[in-house]
Order: sequence, then structure tokens, then C-alpha cells
Amino acid sequence: MRVLQVSSEATPFAKTGGLADVAGALPDSLGRAGCDCTLVVPAYREVFEKNLPIQKTNIQFSVPVGKRTLEAIVYSCSLPNQNHKVFLVGNKHCFDRDTLYGGAEDYTDNAERFIFFSRAVMELAARQPDPFDIIHCHDWQTSLVPAYQKLLYKSWPTLSEARSILTIHNVGYQGMFWHWDMLLTGFHWKYFNWRQLEFYGQLNMLKAGIVFADQITTVSPTYAKEIQAAPGGCGLEGVLQERASDLTGIVNGIDTKLWNPKADEFIPCHYGIDNVQDGKYAARVALAARLGHAAPDERPLLAFVGRLAEQKGVSLVIDLLHRMAGSGMARFVVLGAGDPQFQESLKIVSSQYPEAIDVVIGFDEVLAHLIQAAADILLMPSQYEPCGLAQLYAFRYGTIPIVRATGGLVDTVVNVSDQTCADGTASGFVFDAFEPATLEAAVRQAIDAHRNTKLWQELIRCVMQQDWSWDVSARKYQEVYSQALANAPVDVVDVR
Ligand code: ADP
Ligand code: GLC
Repeated sequence: MRVLQVSSEATPFAKTGGLADVAGALPDSLGRAGCDCTLVVPAYREVFEKNLPIQKTNIQFSVPVGKRTLEAIVYSCSLPNQNHKVFLVGNKHCFDRDTLYGGAEDYTDNAERFIFFSRAVMELAARQPDPFDIIHCHDWQTSLVPAYQKLLYKSWPTLSEARSILTIHNVGYQGMFWHWDMLLTGFHWKYFNWRQLEFYGQLNMLKAGIVFADQITTVSPTYAKEIQAAPGGCGLEGVLQERASDLTGIVNGIDTKLWNPKADEFIPCHYGIDNVQDGKYAARVALAARLGHAAPDERPLLAFVGRLAEQKGVSLVIDLLHRMAGSGMARFVVLGAGDPQFQESLKIVSSQYPEAIDVVIGFDEVLAHLIQAAADILLMPSQYEPCGLAQLYAFRYGTIPIVRATGGLVDTVVNVSDQTCADGTASGFVFDAFEPATLEAAVRQAIDAHRNTKLWQELIRCVMQQDWSWDVSARKYQEVYSQALANAPVDVVDVR
């Protein structure tokens, strides 16, 4: 099966969050399962700064974007030990910038940038010698791809039989732009209607993907249910309900080569179940040094690593710090970047309790690994969480997560109870209400459990043994691909 994966970010090229981890690992895993997989990502400025074996190809073409045409310069990259091809689509105007999507504010021309990228991917796919069976796109940035395939590129021999798949990683980000951006897409205005590209007067790219893709997936079964109702669907619940029979929830896997305490290049002492105490202690020492402390202290270390967005429950974390940092019961470390107000509040609380809190603002892959290894407990009090990868990394590093019962966290973390401890399935502390007091209660329960050395060691053993590698999930994606190929393509409805 020939599969084209299309993503706006993928490790090791460019990353702002879990999408990159997924798009970076899934193609390789599909390749191992026998698919002939090609990944296409934008050639952002930062991809050229990473010492990757990127080469310019002789493929270059013009892409119509509204009244302009933008040149696409195509690069390729052969990653060592990976069995899929990678193309990078370059255009200086669109991608030679400091960040992927903008800073505190999104770039004002993001519609144009990702319309260009999505259409360039179609032009690139159309120029390949062999047809693709599956075109798999991810999130709003590439959600116009199924619409392009059905509305403008259907007659190209290499694309005519392909089926399109959309994976929704987060329905909270829909790529909504003012209606005049329709002119940039090249689509006929007749598609700007409430059943296709329009959403309350705006162009909605994610909606386009949901309507035109042949199959839709999202990143956990619980999230697949949540997005079919308010508030989880963020307004798209009706459109998603209409596609319910083509919507599947598949939990993400993790890249077990990159996130592996037995071989992680970013931690000082490699470890497995048998020497987990030594490995975590060495990481604690290294983390203390990195944060400017003479030595680690004895208190349990609670960590938060993630985007500083309301979705991640950052307001609860800040509240928790105010409630508990003075108690002397624990030490906290926060690594994150995002909402300037959260950044500011975190700096303020850490300056109030320097003996209990470290806050690092920024995106730091190395520190993320070190914190996962050093911490005892990972905080993920998300308001909603489509899948979440940080809790799966935590398992592998013997770090016990505290999570709110939402989305993929429900599907991946089993609450500690007498029953689950007895049957060896317990893997974390799960709380329900999105309230500071509930999080605090879960944290106190976890700190109590941490004092019980036997129980804690058993928990660590339990989580470190779990297998969240991509193989199982990649097989599920293959089933979705087969289903898409077995069905007729989704009809383009003529809405009058
Ligand atoms: P999301 O995709 O919603 O941000 P996930 O849990 O799926 O959440 O994935 C987050 C990924 O981004 C993880 O690999 C995590 O380690 C990484 N990450 C998030 N914030 C930072 C940061 N400030 N520095 C380094 N890595 C980060
Ligand atoms: C999104 C979600 C996160 C998920 C990630 C990868 O960013 O917020 O829950 O793990 O995508 O699928």
C-alpha cells in the first residue's frame, strides 16, 4: 500500500507539540508494517539548522494561491535507519520564519501559508511516477488536502483512485479564517456553504477535512466520543456526528527509540526496571545542576511539561503551586511555553517560593527528557486531552502521572485503587472535576502513596513494563486505510 503522510510538523524536522511526535514516528512504523510510506512537511527555516541530511531535489513547480503563484522548491531527506521517504516543501515567503505558526499571535497569513502547503502537496503527489493509495493528513493545517483531491485534482492519474484520511489531533484548533481567504483556495464559491467549507461566516479548514475525507480518525476512542458532543466538538460536533460511521479513535503510540531510558542521549545514567532508582537519582542530580541548585533535595519531585495553554490545565497547576509550595511536602518543576499570562503567573509564583518551585519558560527537548527521568510524578490536569503523549513517556521513565479523566488520559491511565494495585493494572492517579481542590486531593494522595516505598516501587514496575510502542496503533491505521479502500470515496454533495 502506498501511503502519503502530510503534516505541518514532524520530528526531527520541526516540533511544537505531540503532532510532530506522531507524524515523525507513524511513517516509520507503517513502513515496518509493509507500507510504502512518504512523509511531506514544510521546509521551515529551522529544518536547515539541525544538521539533517536534507538535499535539494530537481522538483520545482508553481502553486496558484489566489491571484499569485508561489514557487515550491522540493527537498528530500533520508533519515538513518528509517524506511520511509521524506519530502520537504520550501518557499521562502511562507516558511523562512522564526517560528512555525507565529508567536503570542498567529502569523496573519497562516491561511495563505497552509493553503500553499496543502496545494503544493497535491502538485507534488500528482508528479510522482506511481499512484498513492492513501493520502493521510493531520489537523487543520493540511485539512484542505481531501478537498483539493476531490474538487481540483481528481483527474490526475496518480491521485484519482487515492482515498483520503484526516486525523484530528485537536478539534480546538480549526484553522478558521475570514471568508475572503476562500479566494486563495481556488475552490468555487459554491462550496462556501454551511455543509462544506463555511462555519458561521468563516472559512473553516478542519471542517473541510471532516466533510471531504474518506475516513476520519482521532487520537483516542474516548476523544472520538467527546468530539461528537458539546463542548468537546468545539462547534463541529454536528458535522462529526454526521461522519460517525467513518470516525475511529486510535490511541497514539510513542517512539520507543527516542523515548527510552535505556539509551536516551539526554540523561546521565541509562536505566531500566532493575536500576530505576539509580537512573532517576542521577537524573535528579543533573537536573538540580541544570537548574542551578547545589544538590537535589529529598522531597518528591512533581513535574509539568507542556504547552502553556488553558487546555493543559495550567491555571490549575498555578493554583496548586500557590496552595502547596509552602507546605514543604514536595518540589515542583515546570517546563513550558505559550500564553504570556501563564508564563508571567508561573514566574511570579516561583519567585515567591524559590525553595520549592523551578520554572523554565521555553521549548527545550533535552530538558523535557531529563525532567521525565528525574521526576517522581507528572502533572497532567488537562481540561481536555485528545490523547496526550507526556503520560506515556512518563510511564517509560518510571514517573507516575496524575491526570484528569478526559480524552486519551482515560484510555491510557488506570487509577490507583486497592483493586488495580492488587491486579497490577494501576498506573496513575485519575481525578474528575476540573477544580483546584480535586487536583490538590489527587496530589496529596500521590505524595502519600510515594511514602509507601513498596507500593511506589510496584507502581513503577507496572508502568515501565507497559508497551505503548507504535506497532499496535500502526496496525489500526492500516485497518482504517483498508476500510477506506474497500468503500467508495465520499461523494461531493452539491448543496443548493
Ligand atoms: P500536545 O500535543 O497537546 O502539546 P502531547 O502530550 O501530545 O501534547 O505532546 C507534547 C509533546 O511536546 C511532548 O513530546 C512534550 O515533551 C513536548 N513538549 C511540550 N512542551 C514542551 C517544552 N516546553 N519543551 C520541550 N518539549 C515540550
Ligand atoms: C494534540 C493533542 C494531544 C495529542 C497530540 C498528538 O496536540 O493536544 O493530546 O497527544 O495532538 O496526537
